[in-house]
Amino acid sequence: MFSETRVHQPGTGTGARVLVMRADGGRAEVVFRPAAAGEAGRIFQISQPFMANGSLIERDRRFFYGNIGEFQVMESGGEVIGCVGIRGFGTLAELYNVCISTGWQGCGTGRLMVAGALALLHARGIPCAGLFSKTTGAWFTSLGFTRADPGRLPATRLTLVDPRRGAAFMQRPTVAAADPLDALSKIATPRVRFARSHREFRWDGSASSVLELAERNGMEIEHLCRAGICGTCCSRIIRGTAGYIDEPDADVTAGEVLLCITQPVTDLVIER
Ligand code: FES
Repeated sequence: MFSETRVHQPGTGTGARVLVMRADGGRAEVVFRPAAAGEAGRIFQISQPFMANGSLIERDRRFFYGNIGEFQVMESGGEVIGCVGIRGFGTLAELYNVCISTGWQGCGTGRLMVAGALALLHARGIPCAGLFSKTTGAWFTSLGFTRADPGRLPATRLTLVDPRRGAAFMQRPTVAAADPLDALSKIATPRVRFARSHREFRWDGSASSVLELAERNGMEIEHLCRAGICGTCCSRIIRGTAGYIDEPDADVTAGEVLLCITQPVTDLVIER
């Protein structure tokens, strides 16, 4: 059963898996885990486009080889698709070089990766995460980061900040969670729209699934098992990405999800 993901504790170094479903019918298992020494070259490769456009600070290949121990990666199908560097400064950790490979942009894997980092830090006893953002402030705001004074960083780190870059410091509390999807459900508030019913709700982390979110708001959706077994609550995703909190046992066709075991990864439009 995929529910094993819920008992995994980030920080053990074994990787936390999430099964995601996209509106285009794509289904992928993504894994958040520590980077391996041999993956420094791949991390450099996926970072290059963002260094070239100024979103990330320029770092050469040697940097990634020398600091590979600070990196966590997102992997799918055996390929590294995203990375985040993490430096600890006592009760504050800095996230840096956060990026997702260009082929995986826009489908929520970056959100899951940052959520996974926040859960990992919480498991390590670090209560706060900060980062410098030049071009992605709105994206980090959607994950609960707010502008803050970087003065909590040590002087040795602050002297390396180049004010000409114009990057803003942002921070937020870390989060207790079993895996990246659990963490994301606690920090983000995506919209969930039910197209045929003309209803839309904000995810606030208080419901356990999209089915429960609908029910709490007065919608009636057919269901039986509430455990991903019978298939009764199946519906098509029109737009967005959803994640499964449990392994689905019922057969669904590409682009469909079982609402009783689904949480939103991005804004979602469901056919119902
Ligand atoms: S209610 Fe049975 S699979 Fe959702």
